Amino acid sequence: MQNSFYSNTEIIGLIGYPIKQSFSPFIHNVAAELTGTRLIYLPFEVHSTNLKNAVKGIVALGLKGFNVTVPHKVKVVDFINQLSEEASVTGSVNTVVNEMGKLIGYNTDVHGIVETLSPFKSKINGNEVCVLGAGGSARAVIYTLIRNFKPSKIFLINRTEQYAETLKQHFKSKMKFDGIVIKELMQPDLISILNNCSLIVNSTSVGMYPAQDDSILNTPDIFVKDQVVFDLVYNPVKTKFLQMAESKGAVPVNGLNMLVQQAAKSFNLWTGKEFPLEKVYKSLLLYVTK
Ligand SMILES: NC(=O)c1ccc[n+]([C@@H]2O[C@H](COP(=O)([O-])OP(=O)(O)OC[C@H]3O[C@@H](n4cnc5c(N)ncnc54)[C@H](OP(=O)(O)O)[C@@H]3O)[C@@H](O)[C@H]2O)c1
Repeated sequence: MQNSFYSNTEIIGLIGYPIKQSFSPFIHNVAAELTGTRLIYLPFEVHSTNLKNAVKGIVALGLKGFNVTVPHKVKVVDFINQLSEEASVTGSVNTVVNEMGKLIGYNTDVHGIVETLSPFKSKINGNEVCVLGAGGSARAVIYTLIRNFKPSKIFLINRTEQYAETLKQHFKSKMKFDGIVIKELMQPDLISILNNCSLIVNSTSVGMYPAQDDSILNTPDIFVKDQVVFDLVYNPVKTKFLQMAESKGAVPVNGLNMLVQQAAKSFNLWTGKEFPLEKVYKSLLLYVTK
């Protein structure tokens, strides 16, 4: 390979912990190859204690940008210079563009969620919905639901109730939405509440590789026929949570489409190029099922 290839190639990073389960390096490197873009996408395992230094290092090394994943999406906001509308309202960033040392933060998960849930709009609109989890991606889920699907109520269930309370107050203040109802993970009336929801979203990391035998809720009775059940976890593609939903006749939606859609938007922000969505999705399916 020509030396000029290396000297003219941009680097994009991914920071998170854990990081090995991520398909993003595969997705972006395939997209770069398909579009003839001189870009290499590399994962960096970064512990919470090193987050600030890692961001400083990215700027110092002149990377073109980076993705942010579990568990840094909220904390990283403190180190970003300017936020997009979505990143500002959610208080959560998954994509950063480095413009000559000035870091611009975006939340492209919102785009991925819109694209994934839009086919079910008539089922979801105006109804009660349930969100499990109150981390970085739950913020994007709640924001999108309020903005695009106008639910009558959002039941928010999280292991640490205090974080759910923080999100309830956050969206009351930022979006004037007063319909978030917090429920405990082990509450006895949970089954009837979940049965009434037109949509259940798992935005916790429970069930993610290598703990694929876990599920945030363990009884199939929480699901009912025709209900839409969306799991953001994409590795494994069919989580235990989705398997239980399917066994009750619910409509399972895995995290792969969201993953590719959010990647498409991020790729465009870094390169200004169109992302070859169908080709990348096909390659990813082959990669994950082999
Ligand atoms: N498909 C996609 O494109 C896409 C995009 C974004 C994220 N994701 C996936 O979504 C998941 C969450 O990501 P995130 O960025 O929101 O992570 P995060 O900010 O670290 O939040 C993790 C959430 O999971 C909960 N949790 C973790 N371990 C738990 C356990 N053992 N029992 C009960 N609850 C537990 C946490 O509860 P506490 O508040 O109590 O700690 C928190 O609500 C990850 O698997 C990520 O890969 C997928």
